[in-house]
Amino acid sequence: MRPIHVSFQVIQVNDNYLKLKAGYLFPEIARRVKAFSDSSPGVELIRLGIGDVTEPLPKACRDAMKAAIDEMGTESGFHGYGPEQGYSWLRESIAKSDYQTRGCEISADEIFVSDGSKCDSSNILDILGPGNRIAVTDPVYPVYVDSNVMAGRTGEANTLGRYNGLSYLPISADNQFVAEIPSEPVDLIYLCFPNNPTGAVVTKEELARWIDFAKDNEALILFDAAYEAFIQDDSLPHSIYEVEGAKDCAIEFRSFSKNAGFTGTRCAFTVIPKNIHGKAQNGDSVCLWNLWNRRQSTKFNGVSYMVQRGAQAVYTSEGRKQVKALVDFYMNNAALIRTSLLEAGFEVHGGEHAPYVWVNVPEGMDSWGFFDFLLEKANVVGTPGSGFGASGEGYFRLSAFNSRTNVETAMNRIASIRWSK
Ligand code: MLT
Repeated sequence: MRPIHVSFQVIQVNDNYLKLKAGYLFPEIARRVKAFSDSSPGVELIRLGIGDVTEPLPKACRDAMKAAIDEMGTESGFHGYGPEQGYSWLRESIAKSDYQTRGCEISADEIFVSDGSKCDSSNILDILGPGNRIAVTDPVYPVYVDSNVMAGRTGEANTLGRYNGLSYLPISADNQFVAEIPSEPVDLIYLCFPNNPTGAVVTKEELARWIDFAKDNEALILFDAAYEAFIQDDSLPHSIYEVEGAKDCAIEFRSFSKNAGFTGTRCAFTVIPKNIHGKAQNGDSVCLWNLWNRRQSTKFNGVSYMVQRGAQAVYTSEGRKQVKALVDFYMNNAALIRTSLLEAGFEVHGGEHAPYVWVNVPEGMDSWGFFDFLLEKANVVGTPGSGFGASGEGYFRLSAFNSRTNVETAMNRIASIRWSK
C-alpha cells in the first residue's frame, strides 16, 4: 500500500497564544515539582501552592447529590438538558441567601449558574468588544491577563512579562494591596476581593470609589468574589452589590469551589444585572445580560443536575453549618501559617479574611529562588509572587488549603530552617 501524505500546513493557529509566557503558572510549578520529586524519590512534599481544597465535601451536599442520582434513575425524576442559565430553584436560593438578605437587589434571573469562575471570568470577553481598554492589578490572578492575551486584546509581553495594551495597577504593602484608581481612562477593570493572590480585602468605602470611577468613565468592573466566604469581619462587603451604584457597572463572579469544596465537582455563578449596558459599534445601547444569555444558550449546556442539587444544599441549615466549619478549618490553617511565619521573622500579609498568606521573601532571594529553596530545604511547595505579575516579585503565596497535619508539618519544617534577616 502506498503511504498517504497528509499536510496540515494550511491550518492557521491563533497566534495570540504564541504571545503567552511559557506556561500557565500552576503547570510550571507542577513541572518543577515533578523534576524535584523525580530526582529525590521518597521525599514527602507538602503542597501549599495551588489553592485547591483538600477536605471532604459537606455531608448536606453529598446527600443532595446522592438523592439527585437516585431521582435520575427514575422515569419521573430523570432530567435531560437543564436550563443553560441554571435551575431556577438554585438561582432563587442564591439570589435570596447571597444577595437579598444582604440588602442587594439581585433577582434570580440575573444569576447564571456555571461550571467555574475561572471559565466565566475568561468567557465574559466573548461579549465585550476588542477596543476596550483593560486594567488589571499587578500582581493578579493570571487568568484575567492570559484570557485577554488569548482573545487578542493585547500586544506582546515586555521583558517584565507585562503585555502591551493592558493597564497595570500595582498593588503592594504600600497601598495595602488595594490599587489606586487609574489615572488613565479604562473600560474594563478586573477586581478580586478577598484578593487572590495577596489575601487583601476592600472596604465598602474603597469599593465606592471604584464604582464612582466606573460610572464616571462608563467603565465595567469585573468583580471576582470567589473568596467572599472567608471574610471574618462583618463590616466588609461580600458582594460588590452591597455598595450603591454597583448594579449599574459591575458583573460579579462567585463560586462554590472554595467555600463548599467544589473544585472537583464544579459549580459557580455569575451575576449580570439587567440594567448594565454597553455600546455597539453603531452607537446603540446593548444590554449585557441579553448578550451573556445568548452566549450561554449557544455555548453552554449547564451544570449537571446532581451538582446543582449539591450546590443548593449549601443554603440549607445543615449545609450552612458544614460550609462554615470548612471555612473555619481553612482559616485556622491560615492563622497557623501567619503566626508561624511571623515567629520565624517573616513579614506576612493576608490570611485574615482569605485562605492565602502573602509573604515577603528573605533578602537576597527572588520569588522563584525562594520557591526552589523551600522545595529543596523544607519540601514545601508554595507559589512565587512573580508568577502573578512583575509587582509580585519579592513575595510568595502560601495557601491554607490543606490538612491541619500537613500545615503543621510544613510550618515546623520552615521554622527549623535558620533564616538570616
Ligand atoms: C489559585 O491557586 O490561585 C487557584 O487555584 C485559582 C483558581 O481557583 O483557579
